[in-house]
Amino acid sequence: MDQPLAYVHVNKDRFLAELAELIAIPSVSTDPDRRDDMRRCAEWLVAHLRSLGMDGSRVISTGGHPIVYSEWCRAQDAPTLLLYGHYDVQPPDPLEQWTSPPFQASVRDGNLYGRGAMDDKGQLFTHFKAIEAYLRTAGRLPVNLKIVLEGEEESGGDSVSVFLADHKHLLEADLAVISDSAFFAEDVPSLCYGLRGNVYFQVDVQGPSRDLHSGLFGGSLHNPIQALSEILAQLHDREGRVAMDGFYDDVLPLASEEREAFSRLPWKDDDYRRGLGLAELYGEAGFSTLERLWARPTLECCGIIGGYTGEGVKSVIPSHASAKVSMRLVPNQSPAKIASLFEHHMHSIAPRTVRVTLRCLTRAEPSIVPLDSPGVRAAVAALREGFHKEPLFQRDGGSIPIVASLKHTLGVDTVLLGFGLPEGNEHAPDEFLSLSNFFGGIGTVLHFYQELHSSFLEYRHRWVRSISGMSAQKG
Ligand code: BES
Ligand code: MN
Ligand code: MN
Repeated sequence: MDQPLAYVHVNKDRFLAELAELIAIPSVSTDPDRRDDMRRCAEWLVAHLRSLGMDGSRVISTGGHPIVYSEWCRAQDAPTLLLYGHYDVQPPDPLEQWTSPPFQASVRDGNLYGRGAMDDKGQLFTHFKAIEAYLRTAGRLPVNLKIVLEGEEESGGDSVSVFLADHKHLLEADLAVISDSAFFAEDVPSLCYGLRGNVYFQVDVQGPSRDLHSGLFGGSLHNPIQALSEILAQLHDREGRVAMDGFYDDVLPLASEEREAFSRLPWKDDDYRRGLGLAELYGEAGFSTLERLWARPTLECCGIIGGYTGEGVKSVIPSHASAKVSMRLVPNQSPAKIASLFEHHMHSIAPRTVRVTLRCLTRAEPSIVPLDSPGVRAAVAALREGFHKEPLFQRDGGSIPIVASLKHTLGVDTVLLGFGLPEGNEHAPDEFLSLSNFFGGIGTVLHFYQELHSSFLEYRHRWVRSISGMSAQKG
């Protein structure tokens, strides 16, 4: 372990320069104008993985953006780890709110800024550089490794789930790892074991067949912006609950032990509130903030468009208004069931004065990963080594759709070994990854691979049993 760590130490600057190259490719998956950049990014990754000494690295075309596959399967008596990451990023706008250009990586105050620095290029790079450190010093990895990188995570594409289903044999593994989540707080390393799911709708409200003079026509028809606002305003009750029949039916209540574990975490509502610049927090009555974030479903309007939004005055009744509505789901809610509930509910409350159409844009299952597994034990030990602190266990409110597919399609549990920070401006201007988390992350990944190897040798019998979903035992 000393040699790979020393290798990382002397190559720090080069690692950052390479990550800057990756960040410079604007791989915004949702933007049709970035199709070529998406492919260029996949090709860059394949070339990089080849240069590290990985085998079988290739770009795989799909109906959407390409998938990158790569492997190193020459370890005997070692487990097989499947590493997943996504190379697509969120759109960079609003551009004027960035301190430095989004696709020009920039180091300030110990942080690396840039779109994708945290989500997910920077976190993915911790694995690439750990792989490099092993292959350049020891000439081998402690585990067999299969890598799958997709380009549609941020835009809700399903190419990767199709790829999983079509390549079950190629992707056989004992365990999956994803570094695409965050610490509990700065200097508070944590291991994430639960993510929310997601159902995302576009809501279109059509009024008159054309825009109308608001004086000549105002008063004689239902303004689509008003109709849409009335609909959206009915989606929560006064207690902050989602006001849709059946929405909470399948929600698995928190076990009292887990509720207590949440309440013991080092969390202060006041600090959180102040950090967000709010006078007061808001949420579902009867639940703490962490419960609301991690274990309760929500409905949020993520965008609303309608009418005149330019400078000055234009008195017009627009013919059309639309909104984006996202619901975060928790175990055991089903995205398909919630999507159809939403459709029914929206049609039942839509006034007859306008035409409401709905389009479901993404669906992701919620997930909980078992804590009593060799993979989690290896990750805890690795975080302890990499950051010199005992990690906490936490859930998170975001979604990583593949986690459920890995379990359902390949039968593989995932370890969520994230290195971002909650204040890292994910999906926002000035996204960053702290350099200490980046380099600590590389050290953690080095230890993680090694721990998996040792645990496999020592407890092979239980290892294999517990990962195949039978009764897990403490090793
Ligand atoms: N990396 C995030 C999810 C995340 C962030 C999990 C922080 C835990 C902690 C991921 O890239 C993401 O943004 N996912 C989308 C998925 C959606 C489009 C289905 C999300 O959560 O909105
Ligand atoms: Mn991500
Ligand atoms: Mn994201």
